[in-house]
Amino acid sequence: MSAAALVLLSLLYQVQGSSNSERHTGLSNYTFPEDFIFGVATAAFQIEGGWNKGGKGENIWDTYLHKHPNFTLDHSNGDVAADSYHKYKEDITMIQSLGVKYYRLSISWTRLLPNGTDNYINEDGMKYYRHILEGLRKVGITPMVTLFHWDLPTPFMDLGGWTNPVMVNYFEDYARVAFNLYGDIVNIWTTMNEPHQHCANGYGFVNFVPALNAHGIGEYLCTHYMLLAHAKVYHLYDRYFRPSQNGKIGITLDSFAGEPKNASNPNDHVAVENYLQMHLGLYANPIFSSSGDYPRYVRDTIDHMSQIQGFTRSRLPFFTEQEIVMLKGSSDFFGLNHYTTYKITNCERNENWQIPSMDHDNGICMSQPSNWPKPGASWLAVHPPGFRKIINWIKKNYGDVPIIVTENGLCDDGSLEDFERVSYFNEYLYQLLLAVNIDKCNVRGYFAWTLMDDFEWGDGYVTKFGLYHVDFDSPHRTRTPKLSAINYGQIVRTRQIDFDFIKPESTKYQSNKI
Ligand code: NOJ
Repeated sequence: MSAAALVLLSLLYQVQGSSNSERHTGLSNYTFPEDFIFGVATAAFQIEGGWNKGGKGENIWDTYLHKHPNFTLDHSNGDVAADSYHKYKEDITMIQSLGVKYYRLSISWTRLLPNGTDNYINEDGMKYYRHILEGLRKVGITPMVTLFHWDLPTPFMDLGGWTNPVMVNYFEDYARVAFNLYGDIVNIWTTMNEPHQHCANGYGFVNFVPALNAHGIGEYLCTHYMLLAHAKVYHLYDRYFRPSQNGKIGITLDSFAGEPKNASNPNDHVAVENYLQMHLGLYANPIFSSSGDYPRYVRDTIDHMSQIQGFTRSRLPFFTEQEIVMLKGSSDFFGLNHYTTYKITNCERNENWQIPSMDHDNGICMSQPSNWPKPGASWLAVHPPGFRKIINWIKKNYGDVPIIVTENGLCDDGSLEDFERVSYFNEYLYQLLLAVNIDKCNVRGYFAWTLMDDFEWGDGYVTKFGLYHVDFDSPHRTRTPKLSAINYGQIVRTRQIDFDFIKPESTKYQSNKI
């Protein structure tokens, strides 16, 4: 894709018409500050492919999908994906075209350490990431590197994965290798991506690999040791690497926003709070709160449920005093992934609940109104005001911690004229501006998910999140900018949202305005 193509597309689609921005009063005051970080994000397993190239070892997604080809909607796997193993130079050009100055990527643990352990470092893998990172730096793009975006080395899964406390040390060993190898050119790290989704869906249920279905126990063990591993690595960096490398290191947590199903029912307001504590507070409280440890509501609820279910001990493990101290403050920023909102109410019984499970412990029923647009996956309805709410919830609970939105985006059927994605980014970014300018929330940056269509976990290649289209039928995995790439590039360059970028009648989101 050339610069000329970008300009042409831009001219084709930039429709000046009756002003959409009239709906967004005061917008002219809202420009993204000069030091606001704009970036775009990806993850290794979702784009790289090259699953057995250059000495890479197997991770749990490789192994599981080869054994269970029907796991994904389209029976696909990540063997080739968007082929970024071979096409990373083109990826860098695309990132440059967007005008963003930051790129969030993850390292495939087994490309660097094929067995997971640090006794053998794979030279090809070492060079692969060196080339990408240097390539980015050369064109003025700052990399933000995630150490773990769900692709655990298979040999560790054979030992129980994140339910095994030994993982804390192995993760630290891996991080040490990465800091030693790349700390000279990487100065923003995230340890873990979305421990909640990984543990709840992969260990509690079967939506993600490793599909353990160990609900009620597995997700809490996974949570516990991922948190401890995160804190260990934070302190490793802080003590031994930060003094010479001067970087930042944090964690990325995910959260849907919650709204009371019935706004005039006080119980539904309590239910929203309980939902957020169980899904976000469980991970955030130990790190970002002044008290540390798991949130009181979560601790009491799981202890109580375990007791009445006849367990000798709580299904949620306990931190020692020393661990509570180690976790507290162990993140330089709050990495937030946010996509959608749910209406929340208490419910006594839901026939889909497994017992015991995190859902059953929480006792919450969730739904999304039918008038919230859902152009792609069944879980992702568009409701922009939720973004502002969840940012405010973080401020209310954890104070002025700098927030970096490490992912936000929409999936659809993959069309190049992705009007819905254009609207989604405009409307969600507008809510971010309201959170910053009106609510004085400390949001420092925003990474759009995602650079290009990729392997969307259980959905395979069916749902598309990319700013760039990828032709998965072509061996070349040809990339083409979508309309949303042009729009996002314009926001990044002008530091303003242009609500007239598409015709007002193209947007289906009128009902979602605050
Ligand atoms: C969050 C995950 O980090 C990412 O890997 C995934 O593709 C997006 N959610 C969309 O589901």
